[in-house]
Amino acid sequence: MDFALELKRHVTRVERGLDLHLPAAATRPARLHGAMRYSLEAGGKRVRPVLVLATAELCGLTGDEALPAAVAIECVHTYSLIHDDLPCMDNDDLRRGRPTVHKAYDEATALLAGDALLTHAFALLATAYATQPTLAHALVCELADAAGSQRLIGGQMEDLLAEKKADATPAELEFIHLNKTAAMLEAALVLGGLVGVAGQTPVTAPAALRQVGRHLGLAFQIMDDVLDATADSATLGKTAGKDAKADKTTYVKLHGVDAARRIAQEHTDAALTALGTLPGDKSFLTALVLAMATRRS
Ligand code: IPE
Ligand code: IPE
Ligand code: MG
Ligand code: MG
Ligand code: MG
Repeated sequence: MDFALELKRHVTRVERGLDLHLPAAATRPARLHGAMRYSLEAGGKRVRPVLVLATAELCGLTGDEALPAAVAIECVHTYSLIHDDLPCMDNDDLRRGRPTVHKAYDEATALLAGDALLTHAFALLATAYATQPTLAHALVCELADAAGSQRLIGGQMEDLLAEKKADATPAELEFIHLNKTAAMLEAALVLGGLVGVAGQTPVTAPAALRQVGRHLGLAFQIMDDVLDATADSATLGKTAGKDAKADKTTYVKLHGVDAARRIAQEHTDAALTALGTLPGDKSFLTALVLAMATRRS
């Protein structure tokens, strides 16, 4: 398996899917649809949609069955970034190598573009899987749970509450990372798994997929904290050093860079162990988990 080639194949499919399943930029109001595409089309690693497609392939699917689910999760992720960057949240000017949406447009447009991407994700799941209502139901429940008030949004809330907090505990920090980030990586694997087992009864994704996502997600956000402290803005495509400036509660703040890297490695190992319990050809997913552990952006 040539990892770089396989990754490119998946990313190309994702980009095609995004173009196919998003309203055209010229759709009225063009300012809103342009802003939605502005951030989506800026790129990014596409980790979540690639995980959806690769997990569906692991379950034996070879076609585009999982593509709408992959697009849906990238829409929710991108909305979360647009809102995360707003002045009332992390107040960032740079994202995916471009000015953030509220800088390129304005705050109200950024807010609405995020709202629209979030709503579009669920409309897409409901319509693309309309002929498989049991699958559509499972996908909507999974993504809504991951993106909801007790997971992604709950993690974002506690992330903000933990700013400038001198006595934040490792348990509070784990809650933040588990929910603001790992929830969506879990969901990516589970969505792929659900599409993969759609023909079976009941439509339940293998439990190990959630474990892979949970540990991959924790490792991913810990490395995001490490990169914020150690990399440069040009490489990251977002402003480096923001966490220390905002006095965020991060793995770097609580544990230091070296220990943070070690803890990330433990979660990477745990993700690989959980992956090992699944049947099928896991070479691509294994390489992807490893690549995320050593990523530079
Ligand atoms: C950034 O996510 C926010 C985090 C959860 C760390 P990514 O690092 O996946 O951002 P993109 O999609 O590649 O831009
Ligand atoms: C954001 O975490 C996670 C979500 C967007 C849900 P960060 O605030 O650390 O992400 P970056 O560093 O801005 O990408
Ligand atoms: Mg944030
Ligand atoms: Mg941020
Ligand atoms: Mg960060």
